Amino acid sequence: MRGLSQRVKALKPSATVAVNARALELRRKGVDLVALTAGEPDFDTPEHVKEAARRALAQGKTKYAPPAGIPELREALAEKFRRENGLAVSPDQTLVTVGGKQALFNLFQAILDPGDEVIVLAPYWVSYPEMVRFAGGVPVEVRTLPEEGFVPDPEAVRRAITPRTKALVVNSPNNPTGAVYSREVLAALAELAVAHDLYLVSDEIYEHLIYEGEHFSPGQLAPEHAITVNGAAKAFAMTGWRIGYACGPKAVIKAMADVSSQSTTSPDTIAQWATLEALTNQEASRAFVEMAREAYRRRRDLLLEGLARLGLKAVRPSGAFYVLLDTAPFAPDEVKAAERLLEAGVAVVPGTDFAAFGHVRLSYATGEENLGKALERFARALGVPSP
Ligand SMILES: Cc1ncc(COP(=O)(O)O)c(C=O)c1O
Repeated sequence: MRGLSQRVKALKPSATVAVNARALELRRKGVDLVALTAGEPDFDTPEHVKEAARRALAQGKTKYAPPAGIPELREALAEKFRRENGLAVSPDQTLVTVGGKQALFNLFQAILDPGDEVIVLAPYWVSYPEMVRFAGGVPVEVRTLPEEGFVPDPEAVRRAITPRTKALVVNSPNNPTGAVYSREVLAALAELAVAHDLYLVSDEIYEHLIYEGEHFSPGQLAPEHAITVNGAAKAFAMTGWRIGYACGPKAVIKAMADVSSQSTTSPDTIAQWATLEALTNQEASRAFVEMAREAYRRRRDLLLEGLARLGLKAVRPSGAFYVLLDTAPFAPDEVKAAERLLEAGVAVVPGTDFAAFGHVRLSYATGEENLGKALERFARALGVPSP
């Protein structure tokens, strides 16, 4: 058999997806495991959204959709970006994709030539550097530090800019750190994008899950440079529906839709009608989002208090549903620490592929009872009494 492409040989499969799959497999085999690995809400999709999908099915809305999405949803997206994010975009500056993941994938395919550099803030979501490389680009890391709450220093970002820099990726609220950047920091990053003529890729998929601080869309300050990426998955517990969306300059959005037209054609039509309901039935959706946010807040507090009582170090996350735990008390590195925790009955994601060395990522998108059990098992792994 002839070999595989160099491109795909260089591709690392998603570590988070792999670890989650391993935890589920162990559980299927009957291993008693608390999984803090999932990057998805544990809530079911709200009923009004499911009902809209049933309606779409009953009405025979089962055909191909245009590559950029059904016009009704693109109109609702333009309205959402205006109302919630202060972004003045027309429907033809919006795009619907197969998850936020495809929006980012298509975007890097659309804007990168071989050797183009993309600044990513480490620790980062595992897919950014892989997608950049897959598109021929070169990810350039700028580290954010635990002692600074994992918030980037715009001056450090400025120093990383070279004549080859094409884009800067920003993700607030952040996966895996939970950091929420202030308006000032986001404004400084937007200014850099404008001054150096970079694309500003703003991944805002966790915008509704903020416990302290507020969300700000830096695209407001860089309308000609920003591509804002979002999706239905985290806000409306719709991970399996695979609907993402983006807005930005018309030419970039058109190029992203062209990539879809030659790959996926369009996102699932039924899921698009369901997402339209999630975006337009604001009262029902707001109630759901608030309920989920309050549950995550309680879980975060419970987990942080328990970790503190065990003397474990973690930077307090202000958003999303992750916390990075310092693994020094468990093992010399994060992979060994994750193994030790797995032996103690808790599945976590080693920080390695997030460039969060010496840390594991815990997801608190799971019930309080599970979090309590996980804390007991952390204590057991440390050989200390339960918190
Ligand atoms: C930071 C970030 N961006 C984008 C995504 C993509 O989400 P989806 O493709 O499910 O919409 C995720 C999912 O985990 C994420 O954590």
